[in-house]
Formats: sequence, structure tokens, C-alpha cells
Amino acid sequence: MKTKAIIFDLDGVITDSAKYHFEAWKELADRLGYKFDEDDNERLKGVSRLDSLNIILEINNALDAFTLEEKEAMCTEKNDNYVNLIAKVTPEDILPGIAKFMADAKAAGLKLAVASVSKNAPALLTSLGIIDEFDYIADARKISKSKPDPEIFTVCAESLGIAPENCVGVEDSQAGIEAINAAGMKSIGINVTVTSITPDLPLKSTAELDFGKLCRAVECALAEIDVVTDGERVDGGGEYVVVDTRVICESVIFVGPVVFVRGAECVLADSSGVADGDGLKLCTIAEGVCADLGIIRALDGSNSGVSA
Ligand code: BG6
Ligand code: MG
Repeated sequence: MKTKAIIFDLDGVITDSAKYHFEAWKELADRLGYKFDEDDNERLKGVSRLDSLNIILEINNALDAFTLEEKEAMCTEKNDNYVNLIAKVTPEDILPGIAKFMADAKAAGLKLAVASVSKNAPALLTSLGIIDEFDYIADARKISKSKPDPEIFTVCAESLGIAPENCVGVEDSQAGIEAINAAGMKSIGINVTVTSITPDLPLKSTAELDFGKLCRAVECALAEIDVVTDGERVDGGGEYVVVDTRVICESVIFVGPVVFVRGAECVLADSSGVADGDGLKLCTIAEGVCADLGIIRALDGSNSGVSA
């Protein structure tokens, strides 16, 4: 199983335009005397313009108070506010870590796509100076269902000609994470306020995006290999716990049967110990055995020994 494409949400992932969507809706809500705060705004992330308005109206018990024509006028007002706010966006507004992450993924031969339900996406990507970096940009006008429906991610995968299981989606919203996972892809969450499913790889910000680490973590998730971090205690529990040694730190304490994995090589531990302690022995196992254990070779082809 290989990651062959990264599919990015735009607002709140590539650039911090999510805050402008909030400000633009807030301006409209204030004018109408409606309640609308940052918590309410979480429900609007990844949701189309009209669906967003309906959520604001629903919060204010005003869902049936307007005709479709009146709602469309409100959407236009919000969009005018938004377009004014993004008018000053430049390449400087690309969020930290995004440019390098994209460059590393491209250098490794992956395809890149944008899955944004925003009709302003092409204009925003142009202002950011990266519109030509993507192999495919979904056309929001042709997407009929907002996230959490998987439609936009499925369309991206199909247009790239890559199976969903070989795609990783990056999202800042709960609806987006649900959409990615419903499309059969692995998800990276950027500071997601989790109210339902947790992203496969939750990060606090785009600055934490690291292509090499992503490959390892996604492989671990696919193979149900545990990624452990500094200071953690890992209990072998049942038969064994499979741990990716490339992301363990010296202070991790392992208890019970543990299989440490690096590419096709393993360090087997059958007793308690620490990552660099006694009780660990190095052995190389055949790829067939790796497959039996559900272990996947590293994307970077790394097959060097494990220091244990
Ligand atoms: C999504 C945003 O990317 O685009 C939503 O997360 C927004 O907040 C939606 O409502 C639609 O955007 P636009 O630009 O078409 O109104
Ligand atoms: Mg978003």
C-alpha cells in the first residue's frame, strides 16, 4: 500500500482563509442581529456557502424565515465581504510547512490535488502563487454535496487516476476528516476540533507537516503499527505490539512482547525493556513474514539496521 497522492483542503490548511470566512459571515450575522460565534463557525468549515447560511439561520431559529431569493442575496453579501478580505492575500500567506511539504511530496513522485468546496479557490490559489503546483483542482461548482460527504475527495482521486486507499487527505475541519475517511483515504488533521472521528494523523499546525514522517505514520496506521513518542509507556498486552522504531525515542518504556519494525527489518523484544536497553535482539525477517504481520516496507525504501 503506497501513498501516491496528497489531497489538500484549502481554507485553513494551505492558507488561513478560514478566519476570513468567519469574519465575512460575522459581518452579515451582526447586521441581521443574529448570534454567531467561533464555536458556531466550526460547523461551517468545509460546508458550502448556502449550507453555511442555513446553519446560521437554524442556530437563530430563522431557517424558514426567508425565500431562496433572499438567501441568495445574503450569500452574495457574505461573499462580497469575503472577497474584500482576501483581496490582499499574497504568497506570504501560505501557512508554515505547506510549501516544503508540497515540494517534498512532488519530489517523491506524488500527485497533488485541492479538494475545496469554495468557489473562490482558484482565485485564492492564484493570489498565493501556487495554482500551477497542483495536478488537479476540484471545481466547487460541480460538487453537489458539502463535506462530510466524500464526493469532493472521491472526484479528486478519480481525476488523478489514483485509488482512494493510495490517497492522503489534509483537512482542518471535522466534516473534512469525515469526508476523507468516508472516501476510503487516510486523513491528516490540522488543529481539528474533534467532535466525532479523530484524524489518522492529528497535528496541531501545518508547521508539523513532515513528508518523511507522514509516510511512516500513514504506513503505521495502515498496518496498525503503533507510532510511539517520547516518554510513552507501551504495554505488550495480547500477542505483541508492533512499533515503528523510526519514531521511538530513548525514554519510551516497553513492557511485554513487542515487535519493533523498520522497513523489512525487525527487532524482536520478548521481555520488558527500554528502546535502547537489554532484551532486544536484531533479526531480519523476510518480506513474506512482514506481510503476515501486516508490516509494510518503508516508502523511502529504507532497510537499514535498527539501533536497539
Ligand atoms: C470551504 C470553507 O472551504 O468553502 C467554508 O471551509 C466555506 O467555510 C466554503 O463556506 C464555501 O466557500 P465559498 O468561497 O464558495 O463561499
Ligand atoms: Mg478548511
